[in-house]
Amino acid sequence: MIWRKINKLKLKIKKQISKFCCIYIVMDRNDVWLRFIEELKSRNDIVNVVGSYVNLERKGSRYWACCPFHHEKTPSFCITPEMQRYKCYGCGASGDVINFVMQHESVEFMAAVEILAKRVGLEIPKTVGDKGLADRKKRKQTMAEICLEAARFYRETLLSEKGGQALAYLKKRGFSQKTIAKFGLGLSPDWNSLKNRLAAKGFDLETAYECSVLDKKNGRYYDFLAERLIVPIINSMGDVIAFGGRSMQKNVDFAKYKNTKQTDLFDKSKNLFAINLISKKKKKEGLDKIIVVEGYMDAIALHQAGFDYAVASMGTSLTKEQAKLMKRYVDKVFICYDGDSAGTKGTLRGLDILKAEGLDVRVMSMPDGVDPDELILNFGVKAFEKLMDEALPLTDYKLKILKSGFDFVHGSEADKNDAKRKYASAALKVIRQLNNLVESESYLIKLSKETGFSLDWLKNDLLNIDENLPQKQLRETPQNQSVQLDQRKKALYYILACMLAGEEYAKIDFTPDVSDDEFLQKSFDYVIQCEAQNKKPVSSILSDLFDGGFEDNIDYLADTVFTTTIENKKQFDDCVKLVKKSQIDDEITRLNALYEKEADSGERQSISEEIQKLFAEKKSIDKR
Ligand code: UTP
Ligand code: MN
Repeated sequence: MIWRKINKLKLKIKKQISKFCCIYIVMDRNDVWLRFIEELKSRNDIVNVVGSYVNLERKGSRYWACCPFHHEKTPSFCITPEMQRYKCYGCGASGDVINFVMQHESVEFMAAVEILAKRVGLEIPKTVGDKGLADRKKRKQTMAEICLEAARFYRETLLSEKGGQALAYLKKRGFSQKTIAKFGLGLSPDWNSLKNRLAAKGFDLETAYECSVLDKKNGRYYDFLAERLIVPIINSMGDVIAFGGRSMQKNVDFAKYKNTKQTDLFDKSKNLFAINLISKKKKKEGLDKIIVVEGYMDAIALHQAGFDYAVASMGTSLTKEQAKLMKRYVDKVFICYDGDSAGTKGTLRGLDILKAEGLDVRVMSMPDGVDPDELILNFGVKAFEKLMDEALPLTDYKLKILKSGFDFVHGSEADKNDAKRKYASAALKVIRQLNNLVESESYLIKLSKETGFSLDWLKNDLLNIDENLPQKQLRETPQNQSVQLDQRKKALYYILACMLAGEEYAKIDFTPDVSDDEFLQKSFDYVIQCEAQNKKPVSSILSDLFDGGFEDNIDYLADTVFTTTIENKKQFDDCVKLVKKSQIDDEITRLNALYEKEADSGERQSISEEIQKLFAEKKSIDKR
């Protein structure tokens, strides 16, 4: 009983805190400005605004058109009125009404705001000219100009009489003139020339230092990529943002590559080398897959060999931001890492990150010690094609690596059986992550053949959820958590979207526990605050609450929710039930852990009763 009371109290406190946090967030971000944007967006309905630029066709609750941002014959541009957002499934363009005007009129944020304000006769509050933002943008523009000038200078140097040796080096490595031009490769002649050139063009050298185009020692600026071959890194907008410099000397004891440090323009973990070419290709002729390699030279060699959809992760293991960047363009990614690094922990983690972003991951197995550039050079294009054909889906690849660690052939019968048991149990862990029964089944069949364990036995182990065995079920909970969490998150997104859309039925009588998720937390704070103030939420205000961040989460909200034809109210109620039940599950897990630790038999008894009550409550939710 006491637990129950404590929990209720905890929930109450949480509710108060989250309300307080929300007010704090809104007040903290310029309140006048945010209210203005809210008003601007609620008066400029996205369907009306976009409809004045393109022909919209209504299908169900959504509106479709041929995308105004890339050439196409069948509509893949779509508006979700409930979320006041647009998205093109062809080129990946997406955003709210302000983004649309920015993109369509090719203007900056403030100019788009002005257009929309004029359209509905709203006055822009004078007190809040977004000077900070304008200044930041201007600075970034200057930085990009410096990088571009540096790239031009390097390129001119490579093509001048100073470039003979470097050109010979590139030629020896098999790179053609066309490839050199396509990637804008260059050469740094020495420590000083770049500095002189930038100064002569009137650029501030301290800013060049902040771009990491120049380095500084004892107050003197210098080109730290001196005498290196230069590989410019260009973002998806086509701006040069950084450089890699390769030493052309053999057996040097200093770094083979030196790279631009992290700057306001460039963050290695958020960029991919050659993404600019991907973006161009996608716009021009469409694109269905990307190959990811480790090195600059690998990406360049692949493009030259006709695989003009390769990018390089630049040596680092893949990050979530890089995965998101790829997902903007394609659904399928081939990983082609050097033979010696493919199976390492870092790489496997990177692959899980790709999968988590919804990418279909194929892993290519390179021969040991060979990188893609060398493979093509020594074995030709056909050899690479073959490796692509043989690429394994992520789960197959993981199982293959796993299996190679066990010996089913040598040793005594007992040893062999032991190896099979261990492999089966490790493999089940991998299969459990799949979160899709049909897909799991095919792996279970294969596993059954490999190990000799019956399919039923393996399936049982995978899906062990027997209500009569509470202890066992609870112990299984952590393993099933990813599945459960996924469903729970999906349900939370659905609930949130319905609340944001201001649907009549979309009211909740509990506080979702989303403290593990910044996006959901802030968003729920917002809708709950609106509810408390009896105010209709403005769905497209989310992007402003997050300062333009969490774009993918917002897209996901718009994307998944209003595409179904299932009756929304029922779906909403089902989602609420699911979330409530999952919160109870979490509570049961917590209590169960307490129970195991508790020595006092009286306390144990009361915890156990509490658990029983929670089970009963869970059951009663279903009956509602
Ligand atoms: P690799 O050594 O595989 O690069 O390192 P590569 O492109 O095949 O180089 P070549 O063929 O020897 O010219 C992979 C990536 O790791 C980063 C670079 O981005 C490189 O392309 N790296 C590597 C560095 O930043 N510094 C280094 O010293 C080495
Ligand atoms: Mn290489």
